[in-house]
Amino acid sequence: MCGIVGYIGYRDAYPILIDGLKRLEYRGYDSAGVALMNGQLELFKKKGKVADLEAHVGSRPHPVRIGMGHTRWATHGEPNDINAHPHVSASGTFALIHNGIIENYAVLRQRLQNHGYSFQSDTDTEVLVQLIDFFYQEGQVTAEEAVRMALSEVVGAYGIIVMCQDEPDQLIVARKSSPIVIGLAEGEYIVASDATPIVAYTKDVIYLNDGEMAILTTEEYTIKTIENVIQQPLLQRIELELEELEKGGYDHFMLKEIMEQPRSIAESLRGRINPETGQVVLGGLVDVQEELRAANRIIFVACGTSWHAGLLAEYLFEEFARVPVEVEYASEFRYRNPIIQKGDVVIAISQSGETADTLAAVEMAKERGALVLGVVNGVGSSIARATHAGVYIHAGPEIGVASTKAFTSQVTVLTLMAGYIGQLKGTLVPGMAEAIAALQAVPDKVAQILDSNALLMDVSARFKSATNFLYLGRGYHFPVALEGALKLKEISYIHAEGYPAAEMKHGPIALIDENMPVVFIATRDESYEKIVSNLQEVVTREGRVIAIVSEGDTTIPELADYVIEVPQTHPAIMPLLTVIPLQLLSYHIAVMRDCNVDQPRNLAKSVTVE
Ligand code: AGP
Ligand code: GLU
Repeated sequence: MCGIVGYIGYRDAYPILIDGLKRLEYRGYDSAGVALMNGQLELFKKKGKVADLEAHVGSRPHPVRIGMGHTRWATHGEPNDINAHPHVSASGTFALIHNGIIENYAVLRQRLQNHGYSFQSDTDTEVLVQLIDFFYQEGQVTAEEAVRMALSEVVGAYGIIVMCQDEPDQLIVARKSSPIVIGLAEGEYIVASDATPIVAYTKDVIYLNDGEMAILTTEEYTIKTIENVIQQPLLQRIELELEELEKGGYDHFMLKEIMEQPRSIAESLRGRINPETGQVVLGGLVDVQEELRAANRIIFVACGTSWHAGLLAEYLFEEFARVPVEVEYASEFRYRNPIIQKGDVVIAISQSGETADTLAAVEMAKERGALVLGVVNGVGSSIARATHAGVYIHAGPEIGVASTKAFTSQVTVLTLMAGYIGQLKGTLVPGMAEAIAALQAVPDKVAQILDSNALLMDVSARFKSATNFLYLGRGYHFPVALEGALKLKEISYIHAEGYPAAEMKHGPIALIDENMPVVFIATRDESYEKIVSNLQEVVTREGRVIAIVSEGDTTIPELADYVIEVPQTHPAIMPLLTVIPLQLLSYHIAVMRDCNVDQPRNLAKSVTVE
């Protein structure tokens, strides 16, 4: 959601900012802007894409050494040129870009208006830049002090960069609940919301902590708290190659990421199953083994696709770890008054590691005394750092807004974790060793399913104009049904619902007629006969059936309109296979409907505001 990039150094800042904004596009946004320090603050902003901003700026003869850029995902005020960032204070002294929400903006705005400040935009952000200006003018203080004073009055979340006309040789950066990474190179610094704009220049970074600010000049950087206490930053090296951020010959990041899954799942597994003993080895959990062995209850907190992975984990953990499980939407959990007891372990699942609600749920669970673990993709992300321990999924950067390879890697890691806790407890659960062993063959089986891409294009062409879809599955395949429906909704804008197949009779069956495509996930397991009956019920009512079945199934092809085969493996592992055709189906339908697959409307890759 929204992106920030800032540059201070010896090169021309503008192309670096534009390149950075393009790298941040995947996060989702509706307008873009830059501020450049050229003796005077120069400002350009435009509704639309970064390319529209570039066209608006046109050719620029004078290189500048300092600047900042923003992609806005509107929260307060519609997406238009005026509401786009940067925002400038009424006196013209300060420019500011902001990711997040200033919750007490209305009170502050009123106060500033009483002091004669007038406002140009409808945003919460403009209040902050005016407040900084107010303290600067009133208090006769430095720009940095004015920023600090303003931030001490602000309630909400922010990642900001501030430039001051009177102190032109610096960038002032601050964060609270919104990520900021600072790239350190020889004679230059690049600040951004995540590492993607930085890797082209340096791999040495500092992740700013909550409540910290950074003062960057061409000579040096200083990290301090908002209360002005100097901090010793932790220097880190990012493991991210530029090629991982490119499309690599594919039309879309989403397709590239779907196709990458044999490799990303292999990465999630790498070194985590002892080849001799078949035992699961999870280095990140060694220090919390005792707590895990003694866990009375596990609570998963997550949003969206990561929540679907959590739902699958409920089945896996109950089966293999034999521990009671609850799965919570982070946004609901954090605003209830959940009962956390001794022996509760909270596991946050997040691709980005930056989802605001999940992060807040982590903090709350910590305050209430739970052991909090993370299953995260974003290395060094806020959730990874806020949790007591955890396991990285190692899926590599996921750029497409629709999560694909992160989901399969999350499920892979959660399966390993279920096995790990089962091992710790010493309960010899039937089937567990087989399930863990079966994971090893998943990358090859996924590769085999990806070969059915052409068939999925045919199915997509047939149903691309549908207005509704139903996805049905039982047991392990109920979360897969939810995930299939979410994928279709988010990128093709077709309404879709996922249901437990047996629940169909309690409502959704009323929707079924010859115009309703119904996707069944109906591979061979103990509920196979039951789901075949559900499928019959749909066929009887003339619903159009697309079925994901086990290789060699002879019953369902007699009934369904389209059948997509996947290889058979242990039932607990099947979701890693059955979700693949659903990803491809949504991808092709979206492409055939001319939708913007990688940046669907209204959606952000990581939802860093509540
Ligand atoms: C998935 O396709 C979504 N775009 C979305 O639901 C996502 O899974 C959710 O926002 C959670 O994100 P996270 O995993 O980065 O926390
Ligand atoms: N709340 C701010 C706005 O609506 C910032 C949104 C963002 O994070 O992009 O302008």
